[in-house]
Amino acid sequence: MCGIVAYIGNQQAAPIIIKGLKRLEYRGYDSTGVSLFNGSELYTIKTKGKVSELELKLEDQNSIDAQVGLGHTRWATHGIPNDKNAHPQASNSSNLVLVHNGIIENYASLKEELIQRGYTFTSDTDTEVLVNLIEDIQKKEKVKLGKAVQIALTQVIGAYAIVVFDRRKPNELIAARLGSPLAIGVGENEFFVASDATPFIEYTKNVIYLEEEHLAIIRSNRDIAIRKIKTDKVIKPYVEELQMSLENIQKGGYEHFMLKEIFEQPQAIRDTLRGRLLSNEGKITLSSLRDHENKFLKAKRILIVACGTSWHAGLVAEYLIEKFTRIPVEVEYASEFRYRDPIIFQDDIIIAISQSGETADTLAAIKIAKERGAFVYGVCNVVGSSISRMTDTGCYTHAGPEIGVASTKAFTTQITVFSLLALHLGMLKGSLSRSEYQQHLAELESLPDKVSEILKQETLIKEVASSFNDTNNCIYLGRGYNFPVALEGALKLKEISYIHAEGYPAAEMKHGPIALIDEQMPVVVIATKKGHYDKVVSNIQEIKSRKGRIIAVVSEGDVRVKELADYCIEVPESLECFTPILTTIPLQLLSYYIAVQRGCNVDQPRNLAKSVTVE
Ligand code: F6R
Repeated sequence: MCGIVAYIGNQQAAPIIIKGLKRLEYRGYDSTGVSLFNGSELYTIKTKGKVSELELKLEDQNSIDAQVGLGHTRWATHGIPNDKNAHPQASNSSNLVLVHNGIIENYASLKEELIQRGYTFTSDTDTEVLVNLIEDIQKKEKVKLGKAVQIALTQVIGAYAIVVFDRRKPNELIAARLGSPLAIGVGENEFFVASDATPFIEYTKNVIYLEEEHLAIIRSNRDIAIRKIKTDKVIKPYVEELQMSLENIQKGGYEHFMLKEIFEQPQAIRDTLRGRLLSNEGKITLSSLRDHENKFLKAKRILIVACGTSWHAGLVAEYLIEKFTRIPVEVEYASEFRYRDPIIFQDDIIIAISQSGETADTLAAIKIAKERGAFVYGVCNVVGSSISRMTDTGCYTHAGPEIGVASTKAFTTQITVFSLLALHLGMLKGSLSRSEYQQHLAELESLPDKVSEILKQETLIKEVASSFNDTNNCIYLGRGYNFPVALEGALKLKEISYIHAEGYPAAEMKHGPIALIDEQMPVVVIATKKGHYDKVVSNIQEIKSRKGRIIAVVSEGDVRVKELADYCIEVPESLECFTPILTTIPLQLLSYYIAVQRGCNVDQPRNLAKSVTVE
């Protein structure tokens, strides 16, 4: 959480930083600020609220003639969102300013020591402690800024991505990271530092992804020096070419990123399948498995770790992998896994799923698994992200940038990856027949078109939404492969419309939740033909007889559920194992339209951030 943008070069820094912060608002948007140095004065402007409010405060962005500066958009951890807790945070002398993404866990004891040494604090943040610690080290040790930052970071416990500026060294920015990402854009006589590459995409295609525990001294004259924080070892910068375009990160005529991303799903799924599902040759090829097939074939168990929507994709993956490979799978919340001293055997395989590739809990779970000798496979969307670099191998979803805070195309493409993985391994293991395999490949290939068909029902779904947008509660039910879709549907609704929603396996309803059903309670039921259809129809009857209002997602041509439900949304028929990719689409649109009709900010829901880099 929190977004960082810094610039040093020969262009006006303010417009670059402001535009960049807007692109990073998915990481947090409760307060924001910028520091700009015009050669003699260091200006810091901060405000509670979004970057648009900072823009208003700045009025004319070119009025401060600065070619160096740093900015921040915040997701509060220490201290409420207000002007004084916003970043950049300045040191007591006002010489240093610092922006920070992460948490300094031992800030209280460090602060106590600094107070005893005469420092005063105006904010409640851990960041103000860090900037003063650096200042204190500068004074005590008489070292240069880069060295002072390095020493300070060895005293810090926690996670950070930081950029530091010293008004007495105006040609230099110091950047460092541990646990939170930082990308450095390398231009002609200019550098950009940001939480991801989107703020500098139109200026340069050359990027250095700063590695864990690395510190970079960046000078405006094309000079960058990287070293390891703990060992001081000098590292040769590795410049990569950025695989992203400006178009990818714009709304392209849609009202919200979430809607754009919902509609991108047919293409996103095609991109996930491209080069992997070779229909002409009737096979799947996964380069990430090439040297590791044996590990998978010998595995006694697969443990999946993830959070939120990615965890829901993990549940679908459990069904897929167990069905096609007969390897037992367990799915764990990464946040629980990391703290419960998990049992990990040498021949276990850990699969980490993450759209952003930066989720702190998932990263920590991987660390534990690796420390215990497990082989870790990653399923990530963001290329070059921390998780993708920390895992032994893995498969990108290639969904393209997902900017709306509510995850949509990441989910369907993650399931697509697991469909490929499970079928491929099943074929290698001989646990599914060649004809079954071919049938599944053909169906997999047809899914993008089927998703397009569902999207054509947008108007109907919008109408359904208008009948339910005043509800306070909602229940989602599904069975088998569609139980995780019920969880995901409920999560989508609660996170963007603030309606309380719960997902349940349909058959669990009678063990408690059925007490909630009355004429006020909407129940969304996934009732496709394949997979426990008759049982789900019985569940619908139970809801109907208690006067619940039913919205059903059904297979094309359904008759029985249509007689019972208040509203039905049809999805094309498919093989049972692929239905989650289809049934989740109407649920995404339903929550989107309910949220829009309630006047909620769907792309930036309250209290949330896209990339959860704190635990
Ligand atoms: C929900 C959502 C979150 C994320 C979760 C994990 O719409 O976006 O629940 O799924 O924070 O994030 P990643 O997949 O980036 O690890």
